[in-house]
Amino acid sequence: MLAGVSDIAIHIPKYYLPHEELAKARGVPKEKFHTGLGNRNMAIIPNWEDAVTMGANAAVQLLERNNINPDEVRQLVVSTESGVDHSKPVASFVQGLLNIGTRCRVYEIKHACYGGTAGLIDSIEWISRHNNSEPKGIVIMTDIAKYGFGTLGEPTQGAGALALLVEAKPRLFSLDTMLNGIYSKDVHDFWRPTGHRVPIVDGKYSINCYLTALEGAVSHFRENSGIKEGELLDNLDYLIYHMPFTNMARKAHRHLVEIENKGALPERIEEIFEESFERMVVPSLRGVQEVGNIYTGSVYMGLASLLESEREKVEKKKVGLFSYGSGCGAEFFQCEIKSGISSIVDAIGMNEQLENRKKLTFEQYVQFYSKSDQEILYHPEELTGYKDKFTRFVFTGFQGHKRQYA
Ligand SMILES: CC(C)(COP(=O)(O)OP(=O)(O)OC[C@H]1O[C@@H](n2cnc3c(N)ncnc32)[C@H](O)[C@@H]1OP(=O)(O)O)[C@@H](O)C(=O)NCCC(=O)NCCS
Repeated sequence: MLAGVSDIAIHIPKYYLPHEELAKARGVPKEKFHTGLGNRNMAIIPNWEDAVTMGANAAVQLLERNNINPDEVRQLVVSTESGVDHSKPVASFVQGLLNIGTRCRVYEIKHACYGGTAGLIDSIEWISRHNNSEPKGIVIMTDIAKYGFGTLGEPTQGAGALALLVEAKPRLFSLDTMLNGIYSKDVHDFWRPTGHRVPIVDGKYSINCYLTALEGAVSHFRENSGIKEGELLDNLDYLIYHMPFTNMARKAHRHLVEIENKGALPERIEEIFEESFERMVVPSLRGVQEVGNIYTGSVYMGLASLLESEREKVEKKKVGLFSYGSGCGAEFFQCEIKSGISSIVDAIGMNEQLENRKKLTFEQYVQFYSKSDQEILYHPEELTGYKDKFTRFVFTGFQGHKRQYA
């Protein structure tokens, strides 16, 4: 029997900066961000949240909605590249906040944006091997995508967390991990040397690495699943790409259509691209347009967007997902969505969280992002209205060198 995912939860910080404001301040036409990158707003994380609180805020929803006793969780994996400590994993902080018991395998995993998928596949395979006792696994993807002020990466910033509930008898989707197409290579396209607050990015090169990885992973997936070249799109109903910015999905899909239709006339390629992009890819774009890049959770925020926009239409459908992480590692895989998912979709609340955010001015954004970790200021008055069913945990500062949460 193959394990899979029974529920999905998301946590989005409650502040955002419109790209229009950023463009004005940076002296760039807003069309570059709106049309060129495809983005509208970017999530800004206040300094009383971090990778721990976002991850715990997403995962606690899974426990409550599914009436799970924390002691039933047998594996807790946190995928992140926004860790808060070189040694103590984000996963241990989350274990404490969620009261997860001692008989649980708890660890943090890092491989840039690919880490979320590595954690999910590992959990599905682990839970599949233990299906007699019906154990539960939780995989969290939590990240703050922060780039240097005024850099080309700045308009692609974002923050957020996803949490997936892995079970032996999944209610949302199943996936056969043996079909997954893999691509990994040692490249320097995006990296954050120890001690750096923000990454160093070779942006254009990273796009090329991404497209090469897509080609390699798809070719491996085709081999594993017996799908001939040119038949991939006919075998899937939806596609979700890793999205550091919205138009990366356009670039990726165009590349896929090209490699699937080698030798076709450019007009025919354009026709196939436009039709299939609208039908298969657009339903997954709302999250990235409104939140920006969230690194490890990017593909899964695409899944939450797809579920909220298509609802019951996705039942029994096949969704192809492409996960990419700089460095680089990538995987192309397929999920089969189950029937009867309405109540799961009703509870996600991504659109609800987006609608209840507060707009920041450019000056407030600079203030939020300029504070160092040590300057974390916990102002109870700022939290009035901040806490709700999607936000339970906050970072309150340090005691000695120990991070404190409430
Ligand atoms: C994505 C990234 C490389 C873009 O860098 P950039 O130097 O600003 O790129 P460009 O100047 O080419 O502009 C981006 C797009 O906006 C378009 N654009 C620029 N000005 C425009 C305007 N006034 N109106 C409309 N579109 C405009 C460009 O034509 C380009 O579109 P294209 O990619 O379809 O050719 C940069 O934001 C980055 O490094 N991001 C972080 C790393 C990342 O996200 N990597 C992705 C793979 S993991």
